[in-house]
Amino acid sequence: MGSFTLDEHLSHSLGDWFSAAAPPMVAQSMPVNQSLATVAYIVAAVLFIFSLAGLSHQTTARRGNSLGIIGMLLAIGATLFGVMSGGYTWLAIAIVPAVLIGAVLANRVPIKQMPEMVAILHSFVGLAAVLVGISSHLEPGITVPPGEQLIHEIEIFVGVFIGAITFTGSIVAFLKFRETISGRAVLIPGRHGFNLLLAVICIGLGIWFCRVDTAAAMTPLLLMTAIAGVIGIHIVMAIGGADMPVVVSMLNSYSGWAAAAAGFMLKNHLLIVTGALVGSSGAILSYIMCAAMNRNFLSVILGGFGNTGGQSADAIEGTVKEFNVDETVDLLNESQSIVIVPGYGMAVAQAQHSLAEIVQLLLKRDKEVRFAIHPVAGRLPGHMNVLLAEANVPYDIVLEMDEINEDMSDTDAILVIGANDIVNPAALDDPNSPIAGMPVIEVWTAKTCVVMKRGLATGYAGVGNPLFYKDNTFMLFGDAKKNVDAILRALETAQ
Ligand code: TAP
Repeated sequence: MGSFTLDEHLSHSLGDWFSAAAPPMVAQSMPVNQSLATVAYIVAAVLFIFSLAGLSHQTTARRGNSLGIIGMLLAIGATLFGVMSGGYTWLAIAIVPAVLIGAVLANRVPIKQMPEMVAILHSFVGLAAVLVGISSHLEPGITVPPGEQLIHEIEIFVGVFIGAITFTGSIVAFLKFRETISGRAVLIPGRHGFNLLLAVICIGLGIWFCRVDTAAAMTPLLLMTAIAGVIGIHIVMAIGGADMPVVVSMLNSYSGWAAAAAGFMLKNHLLIVTGALVGSSGAILSYIMCAAMNRNFLSVILGGFGNTGGQSADAIEGTVKEFNVDETVDLLNESQSIVIVPGYGMAVAQAQHSLAEIVQLLLKRDKEVRFAIHPVAGRLPGHMNVLLAEANVPYDIVLEMDEINEDMSDTDAILVIGANDIVNPAALDDPNSPIAGMPVIEVWTAKTCVVMKRGLATGYAGVGNPLFYKDNTFMLFGDAKKNVDAILRALETAQ
């Protein structure tokens, strides 16, 4: 999972940078510089491909990141000195504050707010594609051969269409992740027909756009931009609950195609290549995530998830049994094989560092300790991998769900830390549950399972969890960091 996570982060940043780095001006009068720029672009494109390959594994991720940065600097340098022939002051006015704001925000943003940052960055790519498309329509900045005028117009229309959907869709995703608006799916009656109608109107506007002169074509172009914006809002509003991660990667993919479309408009080959890399890696990521959640991609995109079905927490029958810190420590001391399942609550509590110390203590006592990572644990792909890497947990004891799920029944003790949906047996047992069919970590098959969370609240998908009521489950209530610290102190004292 860590692999496509990092790909996604790189790919959206590639798209963002290149939307900014490729100006709509190709100086035809600088053949030498332009040839050098072409070579630099090819090298940059190769570096991006190696970068993505490096990011596919945690051990090579730093190298991959460095290659991406070098490729980006090369591409920006080639654009500035090999492609552009002026306008540096305006460029500096735009780029310098943007770089500063971006650097400060990226440094400040806590990992749990990453999804909203990714979403807002995607919106910038969408907006850039819209602006490049409209300005390219008004002033192409390139010589369009007479026979290719229609193709150029279609590129503009399609680029603006995708860009506008990406822009508004990403803003809605941003607001949902920030919880400024509800994360639930908003479903209007006849929504598929409504989307279809809007798409047909856009096709009509496209025909109008291609048939009239530049000035008259602004009307259909702007009308289509507004309608595509409504489609973007509507599509993402209709998606809710646990499908939101797929939406982010889907918007990532759209932003790549929007950047590629801008590349076609500007005849900028690197932008086309980069956009295609972003678009396809986002699409692959969406596919992998759908597979991880046992969801059909089309049903995710059509929306409607997360509003109905499933047991509420109150409706589940059974008794909840509690453990205190000492009982949890006793369990760890008595157990030989231990599996830790982290979730969103661990990220909120920032319990990973103390947890890593507990793991070191247990390993020193010759216990088998491993982590089980669900593909959509937390709030962004690879969320848990990043936190555990930050706390220096060795990679070889961090296993993906598929690698470890069948060992659960042979495990003495499981610590579930701030996870909920990803360990919900209703996904397998309750066909009416909104998360029905989603693969989950089968923690209830272990000898004993301790769930650490503050109360019995539901998780992201808003469904009750029968795990808390199972015979072999014990709840250790409270903030994950406080409890993990207390366990660590107790284990150290017992040394
Ligand atoms: P969730 O199901 O969201 O459950 C997290 C649990 O953490 C909550 O039930 C909460 O319970 C507990 N919690 C919160 N703060 C805590 C704290 N300080 N200390 C202890 N516990 C705390 O998380 P999950 O199991 O990781 O599942 C992830 C969910 O998010 C899935 O539904 C997934 O589809 C969705 N999602 C994933 C992503 C990606 S890409 N990973 C992106 C968006 C959404 P209490 O309030 O009772 O403590």
